[in-house]
This record gives sequence, structure tokens and C-alpha cells, in this order.
Amino acid sequence: MNNIAILCSGGDVSGMNPALKQFVEYSLEKNLTPYFIYDGFEGLIDNEIKKASYCDVAGIITRGGTKIGSARSKRFMKKKFRQIAKDNLKKLNIDMLIVLGGDGSFRGMDIFYKEHGIKFCGIPSTIDNDINGTDYCLGVDTALNIIKTSIDAIRDTASSFKRAFVVEIMGRDCGYLALITHLTSGSELCLIPEIPYDLKNYENEFKKQIKNGRRYFIAIVSEGIKQDSQIIADWFENTIGIESRVSILGHIQRGGNPTVKDRLMAYKFIVNAIDELLQGTKESIICYEEKGFNFKSIKEVTSTTKVLDKKLLEYLKN
Ligand code: F6P
Repeated sequence: MNNIAILCSGGDVSGMNPALKQFVEYSLEKNLTPYFIYDGFEGLIDNEIKKASYCDVAGIITRGGTKIGSARSKRFMKKKFRQIAKDNLKKLNIDMLIVLGGDGSFRGMDIFYKEHGIKFCGIPSTIDNDINGTDYCLGVDTALNIIKTSIDAIRDTASSFKRAFVVEIMGRDCGYLALITHLTSGSELCLIPEIPYDLKNYENEFKKQIKNGRRYFIAIVSEGIKQDSQIIADWFENTIGIESRVSILGHIQRGGNPTVKDRLMAYKFIVNAIDELLQGTKESIICYEEKGFNFKSIKEVTSTTKVLDKKLLEYLKN
């Protein structure tokens, strides 16, 4: 029997637990022995590697986060720690690895593969949806639904009070979550890093709308614009003339009960990744596009920054 391991790296997403469950079940079905590596690359270095069984994944499909923990590892960037990591895998005869993470984690794995030849497949997992080459990253749908519920609730209070709410949405350098939220929440303003903005352009229109009876505004602001949301709120208060509040949704966007879409995507990502490893592919990232799943090189996925869908951006400009 061959041995296969899985680890989670970087920001956790809802969908990792369903992926872990399917990893154990599908590995056993394929006569592989599944192992969990706890706390990401840190656990790989510290030998936190344990055989996984059905019992370990019972009941976790409904839970956000990851049962095996995640981490951002600085040590894995150093050669001497990667050697320790490789020795730990070797001791357990693990020669296939699945990594749930973002492009930083994949770059680390690329170096690891080149040094030590451990076969691996990366599964794009980040709520930011900012990995080049894939339309979908695990966790995005759950994050969008959590944001949707939060903004619907904010609308209730905004409309009761004649206020402007500036809602800050996660996305380190990418406006995807903010843009989709704007298009699906009926907000009045959306600021994302991909499109330069000038608040002056909204001034006359917003003032006119208040005159015509508008009671409240909802402004969606991406974390990626690197602007203090309070400054946008102050603009509403001082220039537009409406009381304002800032609401930073923060890490609630990363948690919560995984949606049906994320459970299904977790299932499919895992099945396809394991099949690909069994067919002998040595290092790849599994990507999802309209035409289905395909496998890309790490270089293709990590060498350029993801560009947001032009059609979606057009909707914002209109
Ligand atoms: O996982 C992605 C992300 O949530 C980004 O949207 C955000 O910028 C960052 O991680 C936050 O990281 P941390 O959890 O380390 O504060």
C-alpha cells in the first residue's frame, strides 16, 4: 500500500474539513494509507504526522476551519528545515502529498519537490480567490454567503437610522469578494484595488439621491485598496452629509458552515487530485475553469498575479 499525506497551509477556509473527510475516504477506497500532517509545514518539520482513519473525520463535514490546523511557516523557507521535513516523510514512506493552500504555499512546495522529489498536488484554497489559472478556490462560496448574510443584516440597521455604512471586505490584494458582494447585495458604492477611484466622482450623484429621498448608503470597500475605511466614512459624513459607521467584517468571513458548493468542490478537488497523483503526475496544481478541472504547473499558477474577470469589472464600471 502507498502512503499519502495532506496538510493545510495559510489562511484556513470553510471547505477544508469536507476535503479532509473525502481525502481519508477516497484514499482508503484506492488502497492508499492516508496521513494527516498537523499545523501545516510547521507540523511537517516537527513530525506532527499521524495516520488518519474514518473516525478522525466523522462529523467534520459541517465545520468551518480545519481539524488538522493550518499555519504560515517561515521555517519551511529554509533549506535545513525542508531537509528535516523530507526525512520525516521518508520515515513513514510517504511519497505523495496534497497541499490545501494559496500560491505562497505552492511556491514552497515547488522548491521542496525540486530538492526532494516528493510528488504533490496543490488544491487552491483561499477566500481571496486570487490564484492565477483557476476560476475557483475552495472556501470562496462560503465566504460570500457569510458576507451576504452580514450585509443583509447591516442593511436593516442602516435603513432604520438614515446612515451610510462602509463595510470592509477581506481580500489582501484582490477585490473579488468585494466585487461579487457589490453585484449581489445592491450596494451603492464599491471600491476595489483593480479600479482606481476618486470619491469626487460620486459627490453630486449621492447628494442628489439624498435630496430625492435616499435614506441610507451601503459602501463595499475591499481591504485591498489599503485605505483606512474610516476615511471613506468621514467622506460620507463631512462631504455627503449623512451620519456614517464603519463595519469591518474581518475573520468571520473565513469561518462558518461550509456551503453545498464548497462541500461539493472539496469532494471533486480531492478525487481529481488523488487520481492525478496515482497516474504519476509529479507536481501540479488542480485548477477549476468553466470547462472543468485541469492540472497546471506551479510556474503557471504562481508566476503572475491573478487578473479579475474583465466582464465582471465592466459591470462595476457601468
Ligand atoms: O486567507 C486570506 C486572508 O483572509 C486575507 O483575506 C487577509 O488579508 C488575510 O488572510 C488575513 O490573514 P491573518 O489571518 O493572518 O490575519
